[in-house]
Amino acid sequence: MNNEEKMVILGGVKLHGEVKISGAKNSAVAILVASILVKGKCVIENVPHVSDILDLIDIINGLGGVAEFVGEDTVEVDCSDLTDYVASYDSVRKIRASSYLMGALLGRLKKASVALPGGCDFGVRPIDQHIKGFEALGAKVDIEYGMVNITADELVGDTVYLDVVSVGATINIMLAAALADGITVIDSAAKEPHVVDVANFLNSMGANIKGAGTDVIKIRGVKELHGGTFSVIPDQIEAGTFMIAASATRGDVMVTNIIPKHMESLSAKLEEMGVGVEEYDEAIRIYVDKPELKRANVKTQPYPGFPTDLQPQMLTLLTVAKGTSIMKENVWDNRFKYIDELNRMGANVNVEGKDVAVVEGGSRLTGAPVCATDLRAGAAMVIAALIADGVTEIYNLQYIDRGYENLEEKLRALGAQITRRNVNPMPGVLSAVNV
Ligand code: EPZ
Repeated sequence: MNNEEKMVILGGVKLHGEVKISGAKNSAVAILVASILVKGKCVIENVPHVSDILDLIDIINGLGGVAEFVGEDTVEVDCSDLTDYVASYDSVRKIRASSYLMGALLGRLKKASVALPGGCDFGVRPIDQHIKGFEALGAKVDIEYGMVNITADELVGDTVYLDVVSVGATINIMLAAALADGITVIDSAAKEPHVVDVANFLNSMGANIKGAGTDVIKIRGVKELHGGTFSVIPDQIEAGTFMIAASATRGDVMVTNIIPKHMESLSAKLEEMGVGVEEYDEAIRIYVDKPELKRANVKTQPYPGFPTDLQPQMLTLLTVAKGTSIMKENVWDNRFKYIDELNRMGANVNVEGKDVAVVEGGSRLTGAPVCATDLRAGAAMVIAALIADGVTEIYNLQYIDRGYENLEEKLRALGAQITRRNVNPMPGVLSAVNV
């Protein structure tokens, strides 16, 4: 699990079979941090074994909580005795979701000192809306020497209108408000499935949160949260990645253990392109039986729009559709860095300005050494490699490992020719054949 390994993929195989989707990484990271608010033991099920989760477990233990995997996908967290409110840069630099520590520590201890978080690099990642929320609840926020220092004598509910729809700010304000006095209202809240999941987790531990999944969330503060058991929702983005990989390889794959409602924006786009999409209660079958896929224009939007976290994977699919497609990125400033890598594999994509990519379809992709430039860009490289002629080597796997559980195993079970190797293999070992 590091940047000294590479993935080696021999392309050209149609994916076939069934894949079971893991728990949602972006939900699980928030829920693990949310358990800081709880006095008692939280048993959190369906947690994916990915490096972001392992890093967060370390951070929680470093703060005086007790967190560990107790089964394949179950994490127990007990923060009853947690007293430390300082999360240094060293501990949080790798993981963006560590910003949730601000809301959780503030809610629990009335103070938090958290280094400005790291994570994937795709442009400016401000936290002004998080801060606006904390201040509305009566906290004082200072940024000094790379640390965000937040203190409050007491937290009192108020109305916060978010100027941008932000998943992170919505969740962080919920965390800070769950134990505050009175009622907090988040207006223009994010509606992503993991926002709803965090609210459901907190409610199942005794919180009083209403409206999650709509634009307006109302949090009536409670005195204390108690322990309990909670199961994380399936990963919408992992599911989407497999749906796109199945489409791109012209395969036939049953993607199981998912909530089809969460996939609607993607399913609709795939159908528009001519992909077969069959919905079941907790599964979606993806198949391609048409000679070619049609072009499509895609705009990323907050949920229920098309997710930005599927933009690189979808754009990769568009490179092999017939005709010119436009991808418009509306959430992040600079999420097209991976396109140079894709073009090195034979794609024909031009970025116009910061947020529009014009994809000339019908490309024949060919294997090449490429880098994962962030987590979802890494997934896009994997999809490109699966459809390319020849062998692709993907470097910087630490990004992919942040968020995809058993990616190679799952793809291999669908027939993909994929393996992981050391970057510097032993002399005499061929790196790019016999995948
Ligand atoms: C979450 O990031 C996800 N991460 C991201 O997924 C995802 O891309 C993003 O939401 C959008 O869906 C996690 O859930 C851990 P935002 P987050 O706050 O919360 C602007 C992945 O690949 N903004 O919703 O950090 C911001 O610049 C990751 O799994 C402000 O202006 O995203 C962006 O343009 C990558 N001020 C937009 O809002 C703020 O205070 C959405 O950001 C906060 C955000």
